[in-house]
Amino acid sequence: MPLAHEGMANSNYSCSICGNTTSKWSGRCEACGEWNSISEDIGLSQGPTKSSLGKSRGNYIPLGDLKSADKPLERTKCDLEELDRVLGGGLVPASAILVGGDPGIGKSTLLLQAAAKFAAKGLKTLYLSGEEATSQVKLRAKRLNLEEAQIQLGSDSNLRNILTTLEKERPKLAIIDSIQTIWSDKVDSAPGTVSQVRSAAHELTTFAKRSGTSIVLVGHVTKEGQIAGPRVVEHMVDTVLYFEGERGNQFRILRSVKNRFGAADEIGVFEMTGLGLQQVTNPSALFLSSRGKPSAGSCVFAGIEGTRPLLVEIQALVSPSPHSQPRRSVIGWDSSRLAMILAVLEARCEVQFSGLDVYLNVAGGLKITETAADLAVAAALISAKENIIIPEDFVFFGEVSLSGAIRSVANMENRLKEAEKLGFKKVASPKNTKLVKGLNIEVFENLDLLSFVNKISDGKKKITAEDHNSNV
Ligand code: TYD
Ligand code: MG
Repeated sequence: MPLAHEGMANSNYSCSICGNTTSKWSGRCEACGEWNSISEDIGLSQGPTKSSLGKSRGNYIPLGDLKSADKPLERTKCDLEELDRVLGGGLVPASAILVGGDPGIGKSTLLLQAAAKFAAKGLKTLYLSGEEATSQVKLRAKRLNLEEAQIQLGSDSNLRNILTTLEKERPKLAIIDSIQTIWSDKVDSAPGTVSQVRSAAHELTTFAKRSGTSIVLVGHVTKEGQIAGPRVVEHMVDTVLYFEGERGNQFRILRSVKNRFGAADEIGVFEMTGLGLQQVTNPSALFLSSRGKPSAGSCVFAGIEGTRPLLVEIQALVSPSPHSQPRRSVIGWDSSRLAMILAVLEARCEVQFSGLDVYLNVAGGLKITETAADLAVAAALISAKENIIIPEDFVFFGEVSLSGAIRSVANMENRLKEAEKLGFKKVASPKNTKLVKGLNIEVFENLDLLSFVNKISDGKKKITAEDHNSNV
């Protein structure tokens, strides 16, 4: 243990990965298990001293007296429809938003485009970059054809200077790119450390609440998928958006993981082009557009992301394994969920996957989290294993339980409508799907996975929905 850490009874230490605080230094964080992530917190952790206690009592008002709560939230649209929807219908004044994502995914590009749209409405917009010089930001703006945008650019990383600028300018929107580069001279540690990031985020969100400025903080993500620095920043802000996408794939998904003013899990879809990010208003059509000829192991899942239906292709590949322990590889879905579906198929339906490598992929670089994808995954696996081609006008949704039963899922109507709109003629789904009326789509209801698997295996015989549903 370093000598410098000895004998500091009043110090606090915190982990730069998970934000856990302890009273003594150690080489490994007890909470998240990370090595060498603990550093000393200076400046924030000392509790209130007598002299620092406020003299006046806090002002409290009865909840019922609050008149402003009767009014709907005032929102300002950024005129980037995909972004506005993810925000819950536009930017709320005095709110703090964290936009996280891998380096190079397009955060600065997205926010510069949004800032330009915002400024075009005559609203004062500030873009402060701690990472790039103003000339570099200008170069990007030129590439995006946004040279004429009325954005105020700044390149500063000192928190005190930033707050002074904000106080003087009082913009409607301020973008801080990125929170990891901001440092406060009140905190005695390097930029990017937990105490610096926390202090900067705290001061900036407090400014937002006090002044009515909407503040967007850009945050980098570590390879473990967390906002680098502390998780605590996520708790401080009102909205947390993640910008995700696969490298080498042009699609980008903006996802709200927390939103005090709207639905979480809402997504916006963008495409990275030579001229910046373009909005994708009909993502289902796009995600399915590059589907090749129907082949074994591929099927379409009728999903919902946030409030929007989204159809995606699920691909599976099953091949004999040369290893004693076969591979289970998943991209875009949960690997433990795949293990569960494989176990249910083995235990309840006698479809064996031992000795076989299994690969599962969600096409287009999308990540799905819904359990409603279970049935589509099962269909793709059976189709891959038995070499059965699923007709291309079929979609799937439904949750599989450990008993092998197929459970209902939410938003059936929206899923069916989207499928119908995109020309799908048949759906394999849980019981009671037929209660959704008025749709021109043939419904194959399923009670349990075993009969579903049998029906797929009979697929070559061409059964109709009537045959299929007769025993449901
Ligand atoms: P950037 O917004 O700098 O990413 P972040 O701020 O998340 O680190 O985006 C950088 C990437 O985007 C870079 O690899 C180049 C690419 N890009 C385009 O493909 N087209 C464009 O018009 C722009 C501005 C960037
Ligand atoms: Mg950037």
